[in-house]
Amino acid sequence: MSDESSGTLANLAHEERRFDPPAEFAEHANLTAEAYDEAEKDRLAFWAKQAERLDWDTTWEKVLDWDNPPFAQWFVGGKINAAYNCVDRHVENGNGDKVAFHWVGEPEDDTRDVTYADLKDEVSKAANALVELGVETGDRVAIYMPMIPETAIAMLACARIGAPHTVVFGGFSSDALANRLEDCDAKVVITSDGGYRRGAPSALKPAVDEAVEKAEELGHTVRKVLVVRRTGQDIEWDDDRDVWWHELVDAQSTEHECEFFDSEHPLYVMYTSGTTGKPKGILHTTGGYLVGCAYTHWGIFDLKPETDVYWCTADVGWVTGHSYGVYGPLANGTTSVMYEGTPDTPDKGRWWQICEKYGVTIFYTAPTAIRTFMKWGDDIPTKNDLSKLRLLGSVGESINPDAYVWYRETIGAGTAPIVDTWWQTETGSIMISPLPGVTSSKPGSAMKSIPGVVVDVVTEEGESVPNGSGGFLVVKEPWPSMLRTLWGDDERFKDTYWSKFEKQGYYFAGDGAKKDDDGDIWLLGRVDDVMNVSGHRLSTTEIESALVSHPKVAEAAVVGAADETTGQAVCAFVILKESALKEGEKAPDSLIQELRQHVQKEIGAIAKPRQIMVVPELPKTRSGKIMRRLLKDVAEHREVGDVTTLADSTVMDLIGEGMDSEDTKES
Ligand code: PRX
Repeated sequence: MSDESSGTLANLAHEERRFDPPAEFAEHANLTAEAYDEAEKDRLAFWAKQAERLDWDTTWEKVLDWDNPPFAQWFVGGKINAAYNCVDRHVENGNGDKVAFHWVGEPEDDTRDVTYADLKDEVSKAANALVELGVETGDRVAIYMPMIPETAIAMLACARIGAPHTVVFGGFSSDALANRLEDCDAKVVITSDGGYRRGAPSALKPAVDEAVEKAEELGHTVRKVLVVRRTGQDIEWDDDRDVWWHELVDAQSTEHECEFFDSEHPLYVMYTSGTTGKPKGILHTTGGYLVGCAYTHWGIFDLKPETDVYWCTADVGWVTGHSYGVYGPLANGTTSVMYEGTPDTPDKGRWWQICEKYGVTIFYTAPTAIRTFMKWGDDIPTKNDLSKLRLLGSVGESINPDAYVWYRETIGAGTAPIVDTWWQTETGSIMISPLPGVTSSKPGSAMKSIPGVVVDVVTEEGESVPNGSGGFLVVKEPWPSMLRTLWGDDERFKDTYWSKFEKQGYYFAGDGAKKDDDGDIWLLGRVDDVMNVSGHRLSTTEIESALVSHPKVAEAAVVGAADETTGQAVCAFVILKESALKEGEKAPDSLIQELRQHVQKEIGAIAKPRQIMVVPELPKTRSGKIMRRLLKDVAEHREVGDVTTLADSTVMDLIGEGMDSEDTKES
């Protein structure tokens, strides 16, 4: 563990507060303490029982095949259709009139309720439309959409015909989209003209046009682009390639006979940042993934489908939006809220107005949002009646105790249990969390692995650390919703997650963690070159590559520096090419802004550096590795740590001088 982490370890030891579930909540909780014993006694039998909450066309012969680790197969021989489980079966069970989504557009009064019966019709029509476009089982379909019902419909239509989808976050650039289209060989792209953000239409289709062109340069052809009309913006149109959703989908039959696929049939690929510049395509398959999502959504959120109204604020472009915005809630027949826009449009009370209007009972969001609301002030949420909220969730990064207590007091009326859920794109569903009706929770700790999952904190040698110590977070046993591989790259899959503790056969999550004196787990952040900005993963290397692709940049180093609101913020150090400036000239502000824009164009707004510092040198070890730790000290305004391993120890003085001369530009 680094010095910083051990400092954090010491701080955490002082947290004494405990929050017990209210008695009434505990009495009716879906998961009780017995679930731990049951899972421990026979883990596979426990998972088989969870799998029974789904409808299988053919039951599995074997719960787990782990003969060829790390390549797992779950519910072997079982046949299942994810869309049937999320939609049709609820209609067949007499719940067709139940609302699946209370959809709220960003413009006020732009709302739509979509029932399960509506969803069945729409998903069937979209599935027929995809077939008409030539999409076959196994083909990949990319989805680049705002938060509108058609996005979930598109995902489910893909699942229905067994065409794995890859949803690319609408905030990502055309370059990022192009690389993903090429990497997974997407045949069709589903998009919209745009969506509403911050009170105005924000275009999406132009980025798709650019991405399709760029993908072509990379040797990949997208056959068709299916376009939802959302904003009515002017867009370019290619008659051979582009198809309007309202023309093609609306003309289809509402009948579509679904096929049941092997439990291990690919459901989707979700790209996430790794430690290299190339994003990793995380592959999730059907049966195990859906079991993981349905079980955790029911158990960790204590879902009572008859009465609860649930809202997960995550965009569907991230894994949280997949597992807890679409697949988990729909598999459980939940009524959910889906909101298109930003929390501050038209005013900072928008989320709470929505909670009041729909009587939201379960609310799941990220610490960065909670800290933003804290900053905006208590008087905003307290204007609305939030008394129906009975459970709150947090995900994406550690929730600091202050934010935890504010969330509980101000949003949860001082009574709602908070589930601080740790998991990853790779794990597919929640792995570490309190059980809301059981656990006496500690603010800032995700507590321990949920029943059925075996997580531990281990030393470099793979030994379990004693209570009170820190180490690496690992998963010791396979779990149903685990990633199966990286799309097209089994070797990278093995290398990234399974090589560090190969002897023990542990999955290495890339996070550092600590067990406190009771054995409860406190997450300490990534131990690799991955940053966590607003709960989203960004790779330092990917941003560095974006910066050096600018003609004026010679070298770049990027670190994630602590940030009060976003957890971490992107801070970049760049060395300019000699030709970029005249002798003795300081980097003008316009150039810094140009570099920030360049990163936005290459990756997306989320990766845009908060700060870019122009420096004469970068600190490197003798083997040429950039010592990001020292740069982090600078970015976080700390005294610079040990420089003895630097090839040239005067470098930090040079950087320091550069800082003094004010080459730091913040926006
Ligand atoms: O570092 C951990 C952090 O987010 C990473 C996973 O990011 P991603 O795949 O984008 O998925 C985010 C949503 C599941 C983890 O490796 N992380 C996630 N949840 C928590 C967390 N860190 C601390 N506490 C959490 N509850």
